[in-house]
Amino acid sequence: MTKSIRISTPFSLLALLLVLFVSTVAAIYEDDAGVLDWHRTQIGLTSAVYTPAASGASDYVGVYTESDIFAVLHAANGSIAWRRSFSDGGVKAHCVLSLPGTTDLLVAITRPAGNSILYRTAWADGSLDWELSTMGQITALGASGESLLVGEASGDIHVIETSGIKQFTVSSNGATVVAIEDGVVFAEQNDAVTVSTVDIDSQSLVEVARFEGSFVSVESEILVLRNADSLVIVKLGEDLQAIDSITESDVESVAVSEKVVVLNSASGAATVYDRESLGELNHLEASATTVAPGAEAETFAVLTAENELNIINGVTNAVISTTKLSISSPVLTISAVGNDYLVQYSNGILQLVSESSFVWERDESIAASPIAGLFVQLPETAALDIAAGIREEILLDDASDSNVNILLAYVKRVTRHLNDFQAFPRYVIRTLQSSFMAVDEVELERANMFGLHQYFVLVSGRTGRVVALDTFLKGETVWALDGVDVGAENGKDTTVRLIGTDVYIVTKTGIVTVINALTGEITKTKQILSTDQVILKVVEIPSGLYAWTTSDELVRIHETAAPTEIYYTNRVNEDSVWGYMISVGAEGNLVLTKTWSFNLDDGYTVATTAMRPQLDKTVNIGQVLKDRRVMYKYLHANLLSIAAINSEERRLQVFLLDTVTGRVLHAKAHNEIDSARDIALAQGEHWLVYTYTAAAPTLGEQLTIWDLYESKLAGNTGLLVSGPTALESTTLVAAAGTDVYVVRVTPSKPFDVLNTIAFSKQQLIYTVAAMLAVVGYLRPQVGKKRANAKWGVE
Ligand SMILES: *[C@@H]1O[C@H](CO)[C@@H](O)[C@H](O)[C@H]1NC(C)=O
Repeated sequence: MTKSIRISTPFSLLALLLVLFVSTVAAIYEDDAGVLDWHRTQIGLTSAVYTPAASGASDYVGVYTESDIFAVLHAANGSIAWRRSFSDGGVKAHCVLSLPGTTDLLVAITRPAGNSILYRTAWADGSLDWELSTMGQITALGASGESLLVGEASGDIHVIETSGIKQFTVSSNGATVVAIEDGVVFAEQNDAVTVSTVDIDSQSLVEVARFEGSFVSVESEILVLRNADSLVIVKLGEDLQAIDSITESDVESVAVSEKVVVLNSASGAATVYDRESLGELNHLEASATTVAPGAEAETFAVLTAENELNIINGVTNAVISTTKLSISSPVLTISAVGNDYLVQYSNGILQLVSESSFVWERDESIAASPIAGLFVQLPETAALDIAAGIREEILLDDASDSNVNILLAYVKRVTRHLNDFQAFPRYVIRTLQSSFMAVDEVELERANMFGLHQYFVLVSGRTGRVVALDTFLKGETVWALDGVDVGAENGKDTTVRLIGTDVYIVTKTGIVTVINALTGEITKTKQILSTDQVILKVVEIPSGLYAWTTSDELVRIHETAAPTEIYYTNRVNEDSVWGYMISVGAEGNLVLTKTWSFNLDDGYTVATTAMRPQLDKTVNIGQVLKDRRVMYKYLHANLLSIAAINSEERRLQVFLLDTVTGRVLHAKAHNEIDSARDIALAQGEHWLVYTYTAAAPTLGEQLTIWDLYESKLAGNTGLLVSGPTALESTTLVAAAGTDVYVVRVTPSKPFDVLNTIAFSKQQLIYTVAAMLAVVGYLRPQVGKKRANAKWGVE
């Protein structure tokens, strides 16, 4: 007993010291788990800009974006005042009118089915005054005295009270309403434009003029038409008849500002006319790519091919200012907003530029068709090494014909744990240091330690911009890279994979771009296809990444280890799925062998497919039931789920295939579905989730979940072999589409969280202290007893 006490005294002191650090080293606080870390709000690429009609209300600017979002931004700093997304039902067309003399605006949205909804809302906060549905496509909005005029493609013009009550409808006899200006209706049919007024008293439409040509634009009394190859500028008088006109060929665009009309020719020259007399004022041999109305009455803006923004006084021809835009990407739209210009670049940046500098910018590439979102662990985090270790173990386990590999994997694991332990003193020192650091640094250290500090890399298929967001710094941009080849059609057929900390972007035509995700540098670009082939699919197997070409060859993109194994893959065609085996050929190359085919029933086509992500981690192998028995999950590395639809019969079939044998493991059919709506399908370790829109039993979106178990009975495992697991109770999850959300999720009760009932640091310290006291008290007594024993006295 005495001996053990001597050893335990210094040990207890050490334990006491260590206990102080336990909570920060091995666990996460409960209020840290399951928290929405951050949410980055996005609107998408601006396609049209609207400003408030009431002068002085220039605090706001309205934009309609390619993501079908109408957003009102604070003109001062570019932050979102409010926004409304119309993307979920789809948008065929939209129309916006700022109501003169009010602080409100009208927004009309036409849905794909052709019906429209008109909203009256406030500039400042987006509060809805009223909404109104119409059967046709709204093509023009206007105001006339106390009434609102709503023109449609069918030629109908609804006259509506400002309170939203419909008064009556008149028709322009099938001519599409293209604009309504100051109560005057412009309608187009068969290459002719009619100009009419609405007579409220007799509830009729009165035609006052007619012009040959197709409609381009109208701005107060300046009507622009296109006639054959020429552009015709017509000056209308008060009676709406033409006072004067000019005809010019070779014109790309027109800008009408308060005092001048500027025509931009295809060669880049700009011709300036007086708006009153239509007399030519000036001619500029510029390399203008775009002209826009200026912020002031006589001015206009010219954007050159070199992204130089020149503000020119059209009357005197004087250049008022020249600004070199800070971004060299091509400009999609440019509009005057107050005294500044709102510029949307093709790389996704939206910028407000004043005469001498830029006021603010927003990076909207993130919302422009994101084709991939990848978490990248930072090298500081121990998690990186752990992940690498686990990957290696999986590789060894996968290749386990012999027991040698299993042993190797075990040795690797033990080594990994030993290594983790070696890093322990460093943690202690860091923790001690952190008590002297600023709170943010402490937080950052903690985030690093738990692997909560990562980069989230987003690839935009629309803009070719790749952006890394810092998960710790609330989604701030760490680096951004422009001009990456992401393929055609907004990157529809482009594959993005993360290997280590390298992002591989592989286009269908074989262009591979490798980006170092930590620094944002392009480390390699190459064309991996030698002929005019294309990539059918990118195959990821444990030995690396390969491109499956049209000639059924596997071309190496990246290889971490020489392939030694047999792997399985598949190819999804329009109405069939083929299974393939990948084996190593005589020269070490990979050979594809077709092993099975699965054909859908007649009339069915593949809508979508899903597989479990490669190297997906299994958290546990079963679900514990109430009575503590376990339902064992059906864990299978080679599963493919297929959703197939028959549009004519409005039926959906869902299959689960074993991709090694091509066997159907489970199938289910659903009737009365809306085959025009998207079907979403996702597969995880032992589950499958899909959504579809059904007409019966009730109209609406249906969500179906399959859970796969070994057996219907608890505690029955059938055969399973268990897969390698990487126990991790906390995961970062990001959702990106338009906005980016990052959240920490923990399965049921996070088991890394130190529970205050089961674990109390204070109690532990008290216990150790009490034990030390007891030891201190006992020691002299024991010593005395021993001395007495030596003396032979009891
Ligand atoms: C932007 O400006 C508006 C109005 O000036 C203000 O209310 C808002 O808080 C500002 N937002 C940011 C992020 O600075």
